[in-house]
Amino acid sequence: MLHASMTIDPAFRVAPVNRRTFGSFVEHMGRCVYTGIYEPEHPAADADGFRTDVAELVRELGVTTVRYPGGNFVSGYRWEDGVGPKDQRPVRRELAWHSTETNRFGLDEFAAWTRKLGIEPMMALNLGTRGLQEAIDLLEYANHPGGTRLSDRRIANGSTEPHGIGMWCLGNEMDGPWQIGHKTAHEYGRLAAEVARAMRMSDPGLELVACGSSGPEMPTFGAWEAEVLEQTYDHVDYISLHSYYEEHDGDLASFLASGAEMDAFIESVVATADAVRAKLGAKKRIQLSFDEWNVWYRLRFEAQEPSTDWPVAPRVIEDRYHVADAVVFGSLLISLLRHSDRVTSASLAQLVNVIAPIMTEPGGPAWRQTTFHPFALTSANAKGTVLRVEPRSPVRETARYGEVPLVDAVATHDAENGEAAVFLVNRSTDEPVTVEVDLRGLAADRVASCLTLHDEDVYAANTRERPDRVVPRENTDVRLEDGRLSAVLPPVSWTVLKLALPRT
Ligand code: AHR
Repeated sequence: MLHASMTIDPAFRVAPVNRRTFGSFVEHMGRCVYTGIYEPEHPAADADGFRTDVAELVRELGVTTVRYPGGNFVSGYRWEDGVGPKDQRPVRRELAWHSTETNRFGLDEFAAWTRKLGIEPMMALNLGTRGLQEAIDLLEYANHPGGTRLSDRRIANGSTEPHGIGMWCLGNEMDGPWQIGHKTAHEYGRLAAEVARAMRMSDPGLELVACGSSGPEMPTFGAWEAEVLEQTYDHVDYISLHSYYEEHDGDLASFLASGAEMDAFIESVVATADAVRAKLGAKKRIQLSFDEWNVWYRLRFEAQEPSTDWPVAPRVIEDRYHVADAVVFGSLLISLLRHSDRVTSASLAQLVNVIAPIMTEPGGPAWRQTTFHPFALTSANAKGTVLRVEPRSPVRETARYGEVPLVDAVATHDAENGEAAVFLVNRSTDEPVTVEVDLRGLAADRVASCLTLHDEDVYAANTRERPDRVVPRENTDVRLEDGRLSAVLPPVSWTVLKLALPRT
């Protein structure tokens, strides 16, 4: 049996757990909105047309913020199309995903949905086909209390209270040649700075996110962040990161180590942002908004023939997630948490149907994918302060990332409520690992629970017919004695260990 060990100590403090780490993303893409969160004809729809079965799952998932309305979609979107009487809203061709947008759902519906669910809205602006004027118009419509043309239009449309949207993304993936209105770093940086300046004139308290790279594999990665931040540094709070992970050519060992790539990506962006800070002699530090992350079998999607028709709410990238996907997904949450000092906002892309933890059938049921579980359990149990954990672990050589430790972990400590949680992953493809955890620094006296997500079949998935085929189960191979815990982590598994502590 392989062995790993680690020490959890309240002195190894990283930063407070930021609730925005547990954000998600709703794009007008495929069936995320239509027949996802919104389906007026569904038997479980409420008076606003929102699916209550989906809303319940979103609550259970523990989502804190939702980014909207895209994604690539936003770069061709006219926000005015989505407000006002529904029968007067235009139907348009949507170029990013080659579909037809009915505009039955728009900003006011999104704001109402987030309010019902107690979620913080995060809005993306179109800096592809549009620019400064449309951005400040949208801000006036959304946030101004009343007495102006656009705020009164919102009131006339039924939203008497301002939406109070505090976080705004200045465009989406503007570095990507696929983006409608794609720009060079210089062109984008200048536009983003202008828009940010004007938005701050309206409300200096807004939190603004400049577009970083669409992924670390982009040829302009690094240079893009440096140029954009040089132009926008004083006017923005965040730089965005996007990255998707998948298994390449059956190389499960590398796939399981995807967290190593996420760690390196985050650390490179931190280094670039801090280099710009030094160059400009600036005081503040730029935060990171990892506002698109997930497992996505993107190569399969790119290999498909592009659509030639213009369907309404088609089935697009409805990836079915298996056990190994969920284990990788859990390890990505470990990476995000361990960087909580700089990654203070994140959005799982996406929320429903489109590469999502929640699936639905039109007129039918909604169910949890395997990835639902690590997200819900991390959101529910990561409380208080993030603690750095440095496991002493056996390593494995991987084709994509070189040597990686088999066991990765992070912990959180909520001294006030006498709770701690340890999130662990065993990335071995075939061997269990016994982990010894020194908990004496926490004075942990009881294991409240230890849930492990694992299955003999690493490719097992949840389906409409068997929605609970894969669920986390109580791990009975756990002992705690004199502040030292021992647990067996099966191969390809993700675990959350909840500890009860004496209250301080
Ligand atoms: O989440 C799917 C797509 O991935 C988004 O629209 C885009 O921003 C990214 O490339």
